[in-house]
Amino acid sequence: MRFSSLAMNTSSSCAASAAGRVAVITGANIGIGYFIALQLGMSGLFQHIILGCRDTNRGQAALARMQPHFPPFVQASYLSLTLGNHDSHVAFREQLETYLVQQHQGDKNNNSNSDEFLPQVDVLVNNAAMAFKGSDPTPFAQPVSYTHLTLPTNREV
Ligand SMILES: NC(=O)c1ccc[n+]([C@@H]2O[C@H](COP(=O)([O-])OP(=O)(O)OC[C@H]3O[C@@H](n4cnc5c(N)ncnc54)[C@H](OP(=O)(O)O)[C@@H]3O)[C@@H](O)[C@H]2O)c1
Repeated sequence: MRFSSLAMNTSSSCAASAAGRVAVITGANIGIGYFIALQLGMSGLFQHIILGCRDTNRGQAALARMQPHFPPFVQASYLSLTLGNHDSHVAFREQLETYLVQQHQGDKNNNSNSDEFLPQVDVLVNNAAMAFKGSDPTPFAQPVSYTHLTLPTNREV
C-alpha cells in the first residue's frame, strides 16, 4: 500500500502546536476510519491519536500499520470499544481519561499543574458503524434495524 499523496508533518513548530491535542477515531481498524486515523496522525496536528476498535487483534494490527507513518512526537494508542454495548462505552471513556491523564503526567515538557488537568478530546470521528453495501445478500431489513441500534449508540459515545 502506498501513501505517496500524503505528507508527514514533522516540524518542531508542528510538535509544539500539536501538544496535548487529542483525536479519537472509532472503527479505525479498516476502511474509511483507518485512513482518517492515518491522515490525522500524519498531519502532525495531534499529539494523541486514539483508535477505538471492537477487536483487539484488528485494532493492534491497524495501529502497528499506521504508526510508522506518523511524526515521532505523535503518540498513538488502541482502546477497546464496541458500539451498542453501554458497558463498553463507559469503559472506553474511563480508559481514555486514564490514558490521557497518564500521558499528561509523563510528559517531560509539560509545565502545567497536573491537578488542574482535565482530559479533553479535540476531534472525535464517530465513524464506526455498519455500511450497507449493495452487493450484500443480507435482507435489507436487517442492516436497517442495525442502523437504528448504531445511530443512538453513536450519539451516546
Ligand atoms: N463505504 C461507503 O461507501 C460509505 C458510504 C456512506 C457512509 N459510510 C459510513 O462510513 C463509515 C465507515 O464505512 P466503511 O465503508 O469504512 O465501513 P467498514 O470498512 O465496514 O468499517 C467499519 C468499521 O466500523 C467498525 N464497527 C462496525 N460495527 C461496530 C460496532 N458495533 N462496534 C465497534 N466497531 C464497529 C468495524 O469494526 P470491525 O472491523 O471489527 O468489523 C470497522 O472498523 C460507516 O459509518 C458507514 O456507514 C460508508
